[in-house]
Amino acid sequence: MVAASLVVTSGAIAAGTAKPPVFGGDPVAGKIKLEAERCLECHDANGQDSSNGPLNKFATLSGQYPGYIVKQVQDFRHERRHYDFMTMMAGTLSDTDLFDIAAYFGTGKKMQADGGVDSPVARKLFQNGDPARAVIACVACHGVRGQGAVAANVIYPVIGGQQWSYLEQQLRDWRSGERKNSPGNVMNGIAKSLTDEELLALSHYIAGL
Ligand code: HEC
Ligand code: HEC
Repeated sequence: MVAASLVVTSGAIAAGTAKPPVFGGDPVAGKIKLEAERCLECHDANGQDSSNGPLNKFATLSGQYPGYIVKQVQDFRHERRHYDFMTMMAGTLSDTDLFDIAAYFGTGKKMQADGGVDSPVARKLFQNGDPARAVIACVACHGVRGQGAVAANVIYPVIGGQQWSYLEQQLRDWRSGERKNSPGNVMNGIAKSLTDEELLALSHYIAGL
């Protein structure tokens, strides 16, 4: 039920009927703050995330929706999403600094990972899902190029061009329930029946979008 209503919401975005939430961050201040706050030691601000090696499990944040970044940091802070180091970073960051930093990342160019591998398995799941297993097509919420969307109450993150090894880790975490901060646990339901091979194929496919 929840999943279906989320899909409807993202349809409303395509028609341009919903407005993104405003956080009022200042990207110029954010650029200075994120250097002081050490975010760049792990996160890419320029859109090409190869600096940390091929098994990078840090997310690229360049071109990500500011509201999504804000939500994730707040989720780490309140332990709705678990990663000890990020919980520690999030605990010392004020909301004003977070809004500024998120605004700065949001102005970055579209994230673009190295490589990306097309495959029929991944393309089919991405575009059509698998109704028999209640796998909703990724495209319904994340868009044809994985560009995401902003709805009134839900932000569908940019995933196209994200680092494949980060994507694979997140999909595994959704599947196992280690990560469960999506609205209505929609991502847990989608990942639940996907096989290791499918998760890997999807990650490489999405990295290349
Ligand atoms: C030492 C490395 C490190 C530093 C420094 C760091 N992060 Fe992270 N961050 C991570 C890792 C690793 C993850 C992925 C955690 C997981 O697997 O859930 C992450 C995840 C995130 C996410 C979620 C991304 C997504 O696509 O869902 C956001 C947002 C984020 N960090 C923001 C920040 C901000 C803002 C700062 C600076 C205040 C920062 N991080 C500093 C390592 C770091
Ligand atoms: C019904 C809507 C919906 C569908 C369909 C959907 N997603 Fe998501 N997805 C979301 C939402 C909402 C989030 C953000 C959750 C949060 O706020 O933490 C998300 C988050 C993610 C993330 C984490 C991104 C990050 O930066 O950490 C990945 C990876 C992902 N989805 C992959 C997929 C894949 C692959 C599919 C198709 C098999 C898919 N999603 C289908 C709604 C959806």
